[in-house]
Amino acid sequence: MRPTPGLRRQIIQSLAVMALGITFISVFGSYVFYAFAVAYLPDSISETWIPSRVEMIWIVCTIIAALGMAVFVAIRLSQRLITPLKAVAHSLREVAQGKLDARAPLDEQATGETAQLVRDFNTMVDRLQSMTREREFWNAAIAHELRTPVTILRGRLQGLAEGVFSPSGEIFESLLRQVEGLNRLIEDLRVLSLNDSGQLEVQRVTVRLADELSFVLQAFAPRLATKGFHLHSELDANLLVECDAVRIGQALMALLDNALQHAEPGHLLVRLHQANGLIHLTVEDEGPGIDSSLATNIFEAFRRGDPTRSRKSGGSGLGLAVVKAIAEAHGGRVVVQPSSAGSSFVISWPARLRV
Ligand SMILES: Nc1ncnc2c1ncn2[C@@H]1O[C@H](COP(=O)(O)OP(=O)(O)O)[C@@H](O)[C@H]1O
Ligand SMILES: [Mg+2]
Repeated sequence: MRPTPGLRRQIIQSLAVMALGITFISVFGSYVFYAFAVAYLPDSISETWIPSRVEMIWIVCTIIAALGMAVFVAIRLSQRLITPLKAVAHSLREVAQGKLDARAPLDEQATGETAQLVRDFNTMVDRLQSMTREREFWNAAIAHELRTPVTILRGRLQGLAEGVFSPSGEIFESLLRQVEGLNRLIEDLRVLSLNDSGQLEVQRVTVRLADELSFVLQAFAPRLATKGFHLHSELDANLLVECDAVRIGQALMALLDNALQHAEPGHLLVRLHQANGLIHLTVEDEGPGIDSSLATNIFEAFRRGDPTRSRKSGGSGLGLAVVKAIAEAHGGRVVVQPSSAGSSFVISWPARLRV
């Protein structure tokens, strides 16, 4: 795009053109007028300081021409300034009334700062609109995730209250499972909202991370074994890592949880190592893997591969979003790559905190 001249330059240009034009009209016009008067109407030139009638007419004509020119330049200049401002003001009123699809048109009159103002205004409304859509999506998704456990809880509790169900260990266990699910959902939402507002704090201290992670693996081992997974851990025991071990453990739990829920039973590899100045924590399963079309946005909140299947398995669709938030809070990232048979999730972050 051609760079547009700044507003200040335009104003200076217009006023300079106007001053030059008016000077030209009066000076050059006087020459022409007197040349003509001397040649053809010598009597019409006044001898005193009071102008003659013809001279008076000439003065009035010059004033009208100069005024005409000034008005023309002023109208052109104000059009350039006011048209885009009016467009922004009009769209601003619409946005204030809640019409977030209003945009200020950018016509060729707008240049320099006014064009920038229109562009910035439109960018701001774009962002406002996408934030509003996102908020609506989140509200709907959260309400949806809350509905199932709350409905189940209400049904069971009502059944207990009315004597339809007799109190048994089994029923209390199922109630507890729903409450635990709700608790997990609330904790995940908390992490994500802290991350959104840039307040997800990680306490990076130097720890022997292998020790911390092996506690998580021990806690998962019975469930993994029951499901038929063979857990292999390759945790570099000598590695001293700067990280928030609790948060990294939380991320590992989410990945192991996903393996339990979504992966085929088989070998499950958990690896912690350092390479190229980065710490890598890998969880690799044996299938069915993640479709490459999903691989880029699977880390967004409420994004599920197969909605019916994962909802049945109890996931809220927030697990990987939490993993991503934790990785990013460590200045790192998380990716999913196809492994030999399934998928391999890798969280990596810088080994040294740069200050
Ligand atoms: N190890 C895995 N193997 C296959 N698919 C997976 C795996 N981990 C995650 N997924 C897919 O990614 C989706 C998002 O995971 P997540 O954010 O943890 O949500 P949830 O587990 O609650 O469904 C899952 O619904 C599932 O389709
Ligand atoms: Mg999950």
